[in-house]
Amino acid sequence: MEKMWAGRFKKEADKRVNDFNSSMSFDSKLYRQDIEGSIAHATMLGKVGIINKEEADKIVAGLKDILSDIEQGKLEFNFDAEDIHMFIEQELTNRLNDTGKRLHTARSRNDQVALDFKMYQKDEIKKIKSLVCKLVETIINLASKHKNTIMCGYTHLQRAQPVTFGHYMMAYVQMLLRDIDRLNDCYARTDVMPLGSCALAGTTYPIDRYFVCNMLNFSKVTMNSLDGVSDRDSCIELTSTLSILMMHLSRLSEEIILWCSWEFRFLELDDAFATGSSIMPQKKNPDVAELIRGKTGRVIGDLLTLITMMKGLPLAYNKDMQEDKEATFDAVDNIKLCISTLIPMIETVKVKEENMRKAAAEGFINATDCADYLVKKGMPFRDAYKVTGEIVALCIDKQKTLETLELSEYKKVCDLFCEDIYDFINLDECVKQRDVVGGPAPNRVKEQIDSSKDELFNLKKQQPVI
Ligand code: ARG
Repeated sequence: MEKMWAGRFKKEADKRVNDFNSSMSFDSKLYRQDIEGSIAHATMLGKVGIINKEEADKIVAGLKDILSDIEQGKLEFNFDAEDIHMFIEQELTNRLNDTGKRLHTARSRNDQVALDFKMYQKDEIKKIKSLVCKLVETIINLASKHKNTIMCGYTHLQRAQPVTFGHYMMAYVQMLLRDIDRLNDCYARTDVMPLGSCALAGTTYPIDRYFVCNMLNFSKVTMNSLDGVSDRDSCIELTSTLSILMMHLSRLSEEIILWCSWEFRFLELDDAFATGSSIMPQKKNPDVAELIRGKTGRVIGDLLTLITMMKGLPLAYNKDMQEDKEATFDAVDNIKLCISTLIPMIETVKVKEENMRKAAAEGFINATDCADYLVKKGMPFRDAYKVTGEIVALCIDKQKTLETLELSEYKKVCDLFCEDIYDFINLDECVKQRDVVGGPAPNRVKEQIDSSKDELFNLKKQQPVI
């Protein structure tokens, strides 16, 4: 295919340079955004009289035909093309001759690619936001059923204090709500229209950037042509937001993997969301959760690719920037896959309440409550802490728990203990007494669920509205 710039060159590009330079194999993904952007540009050119109205109409119709031909599989991509922008312009010119050649007036591929990529990111942020909202609803639903399901909370992965499974799940809801908030933020900064920056220095043609901005549903236009074509903050911000989101999903996955193990047995995955082993017949593996944990590495890698690629670039456009697409596409595609699989996996998981309860009962996780009991009877906390330590040691010696140790044994260590200690260290009671805003008491988890639903509702109403 003859290059657009053939006039300036005496030789054709080496085939290896062509292949190396081409982004067609991956940026063909942007065909719809490229065509929509070109339709807006051509309409504007016709409106302000840079090209005549009939030609603009022909270009718009030609672009619409190309779009429908691609979508119906009638037009195949030519992977020898340098990129999707050249491919579509060339195709338009094949169909409309000289009229097609007028499309690229007052535009450069530099602002064209910046526009297309931002349009893509806006579309994808919306899709990802919608998936994360669904995931939040799924987890809230699970949490609502387990406001009274006692389980251990851990620090250092050692049994620490009693919480409920509902409270535990709501911790992930808080993380995901912040992720949605970050996606909204990221959207707002991506929603700035760069077309009209042209190659780097704007144009002498009397273009109407606000017309294009409105037609493509952007909120603002970029205010500096050099920045307009060389800013890649939005894909960096997006992959950074997605990295944090993946880190949250990875932590949740890690818990699911642990809880499905024979050592914990807190959860059992539905058969449809687990896998077997090719050799060990007893195995039921949490591959989905492991893959999510694994894919977190590549999304964080995508962020590093982008931020490192940008850090030494002088203004304005440099070809290095073509590397922005694969990394962003990879992060976006993987996160959508992860969340789409995680949602039904959580919807179908079986919660083994008895095992959670059993682990909680064996873990001395009510020891702090035992110390608090003595404090209520007048003892300073540090002394109460020490006495309770002795009681725990006694229990371990006698293979008992705080619930099964006789009162006489309690009294041998400290005579402040009375019959009411058993009510005080009862696990349901321990959780119920943690009646503080943000605490695990069932009424507080209910409060948390209600406020999270309100927050989700508000986040959904913000741009990008879903
Ligand atoms: N394929 C290029 C990219 O994605 C499009 C912009 C090319 N501009 C240029 N002057 N070579 O970055």
